[in-house]
Amino acid sequence: MNKNNSTIKPPSISGDTFQINSFEEYKKLYEYSIKDPISYWAEQSKKLHWFHPWEQVLDNSFSEADVAWFSGGRLNVSNNCIDRHLNSKGDQVAIIWEADNTKDSKSYTYRELKHEVCRIANALKTAGVRKGDRVCLYMPMIPELAFTMLACTRIGAIHSIVFAGFSADSLRDRILDCNASVVVTANEGQRGGKALALKSIVDKALQGISSVHTVFVAKRTEKEVTMKAGRDIWLHEAMARERRSCPSEWMASEDPLFILYTSGSTGKPKGLMHTHAGYLLYALQTFEQIFNYQPGDIHFCAADLGWITGHSYVIYGPLASGATTIMFESTPLYPDAGRYWQVIEKYKANIFYTAPTAIRAIAKEGNEWVEKYDLSSLKSLGSVGEPINPEAWYWLYEQVGKSKCSVMDTWWQTETGGIMISPLPGITEMKPGSATLPFFGIEPCIVDENGQEIKDTQNNNGISGYLCLKNPWPGMARTIYGDHERYVESYFTQYPNLYFTGDGCYRDADGYYWITGRVDDVINVSGHRLGTAEIESSLASNPLVAEAAVVGIPDEIKGMSIFAYIIPSKEGVAMKSEEELSGILKQQVRQDIGSFAIPSNFQIVSGLPKTRSGKIMRRILKKIAVGEYDDLGNITTLADSSVVEELINLRK
Ligand code: PRX
Repeated sequence: MNKNNSTIKPPSISGDTFQINSFEEYKKLYEYSIKDPISYWAEQSKKLHWFHPWEQVLDNSFSEADVAWFSGGRLNVSNNCIDRHLNSKGDQVAIIWEADNTKDSKSYTYRELKHEVCRIANALKTAGVRKGDRVCLYMPMIPELAFTMLACTRIGAIHSIVFAGFSADSLRDRILDCNASVVVTANEGQRGGKALALKSIVDKALQGISSVHTVFVAKRTEKEVTMKAGRDIWLHEAMARERRSCPSEWMASEDPLFILYTSGSTGKPKGLMHTHAGYLLYALQTFEQIFNYQPGDIHFCAADLGWITGHSYVIYGPLASGATTIMFESTPLYPDAGRYWQVIEKYKANIFYTAPTAIRAIAKEGNEWVEKYDLSSLKSLGSVGEPINPEAWYWLYEQVGKSKCSVMDTWWQTETGGIMISPLPGITEMKPGSATLPFFGIEPCIVDENGQEIKDTQNNNGISGYLCLKNPWPGMARTIYGDHERYVESYFTQYPNLYFTGDGCYRDADGYYWITGRVDDVINVSGHRLGTAEIESSLASNPLVAEAAVVGIPDEIKGMSIFAYIIPSKEGVAMKSEEELSGILKQQVRQDIGSFAIPSNFQIVSGLPKTRSGKIMRRILKKIAVGEYDDLGNITTLADSSVVEELINLRK
């Protein structure tokens, strides 16, 4: 593919573009934000409401991952997302909840939101939750999830949302890791017409854990569930007993706001911790500028609140801006492939933000679904979570945006808190498949294996390497909860003085960034980030398995899918057919992690290609999995090269 070939002029937009009216103005402001980040962010900080002004913009020791923004300041996230809008927007809808069955949908004004949030904040207090305590949320996409997040921030409790697709074991690990004292869940979830037994998963996760004293249970369906006396409380009953006002804690800028677990290339998931002031400002600022939010706009980000996209662009960014945000409980294919478009038409949504995997799944169903609906309200489109292939990009641009909306291919991570590289609507020329250019205050660079920055070459036809970031930004995670050393080691030691993203990247002659995917042992399946180590340890924990290795291979819809190589144990060889064995192993992964981590392919083998020091050569496994047998590269370092032959024969 000639990556520089297609450049698309940004369609023009209406409304105030935050004083950036041309690409030249973007460039000027960008240069200023890099040269003088202190002045730039000091100015931006006025967008938040402070109880007490900050004293210092940035206290920076980047190489040690010790960074503080807006020290001395006091503020509250829930106050910024609700109370400060009440005078001007009390009766404006804050959250539209689009239910699985569209007939059950509801909406909440900013004033109503305040009442719901305060009742839950008071209920948490009554249960003994205090500033700094951890509250684990294992909930479906219901309004109570948004209310509870904001309630935590109101009283200074730290929320840790666990995506409701995770298994009881994963939930348990996350509860234990942050030592949560309260869990909030629902009797059941409802998604794509199916019920999810959330309360019983929580019960299983909590077996033998004594640190959790209270479980609040929201009532999403009529399903009866067992309530453990002395521990479990119906959320609606607790809320009914509480007052609808609750003062906002004065939080210090750097106080922890939330923990969100994500997978790394090694070990157990990392609990990334974000803070009050920097995170909120970055979420607000990126939301407003990257989607060109205008007062009155209806914003539809289809992400689940269990992931960072939901945190930043369903709740915190939009509500801090006083927007109307849609929370979507269902799936893009339920009841049919027209669901997103039906939602956009119904609410006249102006901004639509989703993942390439969803776009590909819908596009496959044919254009008639999108043609059925009136999408003329749309102004900005966004994509996130994985590289978007040009085909999906054009489909979004032409079929959904009718070539009238910029497509923001936004690159960022759980760790970055907000969008880092993206076009600006109406300003940046787009190239399908490229996340284009960095946001204000963000200075990416590309380094080689030795950590040397690769500058543009003399003839400048682009460079490739590892994507790093040179300077701190307000939205960056500050640590891994309870393990700062791991944080430093994971991101700040490979390349001194740089934050290492884990992504490979190409920068073309125009300075545009093209993310090429993970360069570590992380696999991105349907935009869900999974560590090979987690999946392998789940597979290997089964007595039928002696050893397992997994790799990611390209998948037309999911972006990547998981391919597992299994060496069965004696028991495994003796007892089961290959089909039975893979059935049991699927169940194992479902139980240990969740259905979304189940490998799509299993290959039973008698050995794995390893170096003499015992390291599995995944590069070879990947090539064999996709049938590239002739291009295996150097295999002379293998301890036993006959393994490769066996693997090839099995695949042929
Ligand atoms: O590999 C990159 C990919 O998703 C990773 C981050 O995953 P997570 O922390 O789960 O956050 C996803 C939502 C922000 C990145 O390291 N990624 C994310 N956005 C893009 C992307 N890859 C290419 N293009 C993108 N726009």
